[in-house]
Amino acid sequence: MEKRLLQIGVLASGSGSNLQAIIDDIESGNLPAKIAVLIVNKSQAGAVERARKHGIPSLIISHKNFSRREDFDAALVKALQEHGVELVVLAGFMRVLSPVFFAAFPQRVMNIHPALLPAFPGVDAQEQAFNYGVRFAGCTVHFVDEGVDTGPIIIQAVVEVQPDDTRDSLAKKILAQEHRIYPQAIKLYAAGRLEIKGRKVIIRDCQTPAIGCTNPSCEEG
Ligand code: GAR
Repeated sequence: MEKRLLQIGVLASGSGSNLQAIIDDIESGNLPAKIAVLIVNKSQAGAVERARKHGIPSLIISHKNFSRREDFDAALVKALQEHGVELVVLAGFMRVLSPVFFAAFPQRVMNIHPALLPAFPGVDAQEQAFNYGVRFAGCTVHFVDEGVDTGPIIIQAVVEVQPDDTRDSLAKKILAQEHRIYPQAIKLYAAGRLEIKGRKVIIRDCQTPAIGCTNPSCEEG
């Protein structure tokens, strides 16, 4: 019998390296999911070319064509629903979503943020962390709520800041970890192992630190 694949919709604004990490994990057979559609809000987003190379349908829906945020979000929702999307994955999507979007996909939107939330939300988190002088930086996969980078945390990964790091070398180290933990988080979702309890995400049947789970809300980890 064929394995049922989680239908995911990816929203991106940029180069799409996180999209690529998800594609690679799916193609290697590690992630039982299918990218039903990629939607970008910028026509020059590199993510489109990556999707094309892998036969993934993509759409460009520019926020500039809508005077109200809610109308842009409604257009995104319509396209995602038309493609049968069950989980929405924000991969470098640089727009804040409105309640219209969350009403259509309640607790079914994930994001990757290049900082150890709740530190350094918003734009250019890597630069914020670097300029602040932190000793440790990292990234966070979280469910998205109506705030900016405030939703329940699924997985985080930590990188050390070395004395010779620059903003860019730090961003590169963080990105490598993003590519590791985002597919992991989607895989946990696909397996039905994530449960949101208030602010916390419980990872069910988490017996091994192999997924890099240092989440104190993990019941067995
Ligand atoms: C990634 O670093 C991602 O964490 C960040 O944008 C980059 C997209 O890179 N997202 C945010 O800052 C969202 N607040 P990519 O297009 O190569 O995946």
